Amino acid sequence: MDYTATASIYSQKLQEKEFKRIQEFMLKNLGVKLAPIKIVMVNSRLIKRLKATGIYTFPEYIEYALSAVGKRSGEQQCMIDELTTHKTEFFRENEQFDFLKEVVLPEFTNNRNSLFKIWSAGCSTGEEALTMAMIFENYKTTHLGFNYNIEATDVSKGVVDKAVLGVYGGANILGLDEKLRKRYFEPLKNGNASMVQASKVLRDRIKYSVSNLAAHYTYPNSMFDVVFCRNTLIYFEDNAKREVVNKLINKIKPGGYLFVGLSETVSQYSKDIKQMRPSVYKKIG
Ligand SMILES: C[S@@+](CC[C@H](N)C(=O)[O-])C[C@H]1O[C@@H](n2cnc3c(N)ncnc32)[C@H](O)[C@@H]1O
Repeated sequence: MDYTATASIYSQKLQEKEFKRIQEFMLKNLGVKLAPIKIVMVNSRLIKRLKATGIYTFPEYIEYALSAVGKRSGEQQCMIDELTTHKTEFFRENEQFDFLKEVVLPEFTNNRNSLFKIWSAGCSTGEEALTMAMIFENYKTTHLGFNYNIEATDVSKGVVDKAVLGVYGGANILGLDEKLRKRYFEPLKNGNASMVQASKVLRDRIKYSVSNLAAHYTYPNSMFDVVFCRNTLIYFEDNAKREVVNKLINKIKPGGYLFVGLSETVSQYSKDIKQMRPSVYKKIG
């Protein structure tokens, strides 16, 4: 693309009419609410897609991305990847992992002798699921019969593809305990020396897939002992949030747990859960 074409794409301004089409699409398909102020963010993120597709204007791009052809070509997925927020980190909101270690796991091993099943719903690039795997690997060393299974899903194919590779910038693991860094991360072979890859032991324990929480048919088949859906529902419109919370609860075994982000509260959406800690709920039954 020559200089004039690139400059013309970068100077595009998303109009309210097109923004409203995006808002409607995100709400109807993902349950995600884009407040009017997000027009600036949508404008800048979609300019990258104009550039990647070589389409010069927003009206043409949006027509294409939202069409059946755009869906088949994968452009609709690329647009979703751009418009969702993926911020995450290892051991994020660590007090919840403490609760998992100190309360949930002992309770599980005292009462059951089966496979511990956990779901990271809205897993982003995999840091949450890998944190779980590190905790479970450690727990296994002192509880020999313990075994587990992690499902991790996200609506964005871009982040799921990254999670499957398990490759991170070295800076992303600096906050981790040195023992964990040494045991579970290795410098990326044949690649950028500043990158690390999560060990195969952890990666092999996690089954990643692309799944939309607003579309029930894409939910995992299993029932879970624990579901983490953290910092994901905050982007949802209230009715969609209520629906998703209830669908998540239906996937939890009686006596199992739902974890949401520390700034989130979901007790108002269901009588089937009891709050145990801020943002930690136990399914009644
Ligand atoms: C901010 S990240 C949270 C990651 C992780 N759970 C954490 O707390 O660090 C939110 C994730 O939710 C995903 N997401 C948004 N809408 C979704 C939907 N309808 N179905 C599944 N995932 C969705 C986004 O793609 C994003 O990766």
